[in-house]
Amino acid sequence: MKNFNKIVNHLITTGFVYPSSEIYGGLSNSWDYGPLGVELKQNIKKLWWQKFVHESTLNVGIDSAILMNPKVWEATGHVTSFNDPLIDCKSCKMRFRADELIKNQFPNVNVDKMTNDELSDFVKNNDVVCPNCGKHNFTDIRQFNMMFKTHIGVTDDSKSVVYLRPETAQGVFVNFKNVQRTTRKKLPFGICNVGKSFRNEITPGNFIFRTREFEQMECEFFVKPEDDLKWYDYWKKYCMDFLLNELSILKDNLRFRDHEKEELAFYSKATCDIEYNFPFGWGEIWGIADRTDYDLKKHMEYSKESLEYVDAVTNQKIIPYVIEPSVGLDRLMLMSLVDSYDEETLENGETRIVMHLDKKIAPIKIAILPLSKQLSEKALSIYKQLVKKYNCQFDESGSIGKRYRRQDSIGTPFCVTVDFDTLNDDCVTIRFRDDMSQKRIKVEEISKYID
Ligand code: GLY
Repeated sequence: MKNFNKIVNHLITTGFVYPSSEIYGGLSNSWDYGPLGVELKQNIKKLWWQKFVHESTLNVGIDSAILMNPKVWEATGHVTSFNDPLIDCKSCKMRFRADELIKNQFPNVNVDKMTNDELSDFVKNNDVVCPNCGKHNFTDIRQFNMMFKTHIGVTDDSKSVVYLRPETAQGVFVNFKNVQRTTRKKLPFGICNVGKSFRNEITPGNFIFRTREFEQMECEFFVKPEDDLKWYDYWKKYCMDFLLNELSILKDNLRFRDHEKEELAFYSKATCDIEYNFPFGWGEIWGIADRTDYDLKKHMEYSKESLEYVDAVTNQKIIPYVIEPSVGLDRLMLMSLVDSYDEETLENGETRIVMHLDKKIAPIKIAILPLSKQLSEKALSIYKQLVKKYNCQFDESGSIGKRYRRQDSIGTPFCVTVDFDTLNDDCVTIRFRDDMSQKRIKVEEISKYID
């Protein structure tokens, strides 16, 4: 089992992730992506967009606003139902999610099936203790809405309330008619939306796994109601294939998990999660949900606008069903980083840290390393050619062994070493991250070779 704390430490020290506003003591569970993290994030996002928007003839993309008319969230039920059951310890004032509090101390109790009153009774009648102070002295359970509220403009009254969106999905539903009208798409078709979402989680944690601000990549796929289960299976497979074939995640570390009826979100008929086996346990990566016609119907009811689809052949009006593959970008990053992290013992007894990231998402593709500073000019000219196509790094400091180790530890798949022979034969050595083998090739062939 990999050591999670060690990996987190590695990611912070190499510049993948920094604690947010660190010079002020940070902000709990808020993280910034450093020079390597931002590259990894963009690469994964680009790959997702490539597969879900460009390569899928069925889908198109949009980019919707974070701030929306608050009626959106009344219509969807988020204002009334997007709640966590919270309980406070009266002795030490710590706050917990009641269901998690019970689950952690009584793992055999199925909290997903329990109402608020049942959760409350269970806490009262059993020896549930505060994990912080050990006392059994709790308040009643209160429902706590997880949406962040803010105000539009200068007034602070209730009329100016807006929410930071808790999911990108609604940006798609409210634009269903716009997209359908302007693209003339016929069912089935999907609309993809990527961006930040916000949830005031009471128990965030596990580094960038669960944060209050996070980035979603969602596709709302509209189908004829009778076709929903066929497309539900299609997207389950499509998402799993993305993890296996595009991000090269180890198969044994992935599994499907169907939600039980009691666990389903208030809008869903069926949901399946793809989970990854993190060092802290199995965690959700991708949710594939059958949202039925819940969202479109609700928006029709609240906006009084028709969101019906007219079948071009039968002229029948229908409200499409929706299959939603929804994934957290930050979780895809964490999974890729954990899955690729490795510590190998070399023949000389040294340990090398190596990130076997898939080449498509590695932050830096090629490191250009002159063996001596006298070769920097030649190496820089190679760097300037290659960087037009690939994100490269030029590094002339330290021994060549140390420089290879540095690149291994951040997942750079190729090192190009410029030596004194290069000046005569115009050849360089390419060194491969995973097996550390080397090959000599012509400078003019590097780009084609890497392609
Ligand atoms: N749109 C589903 C979710 O955000 O979980």
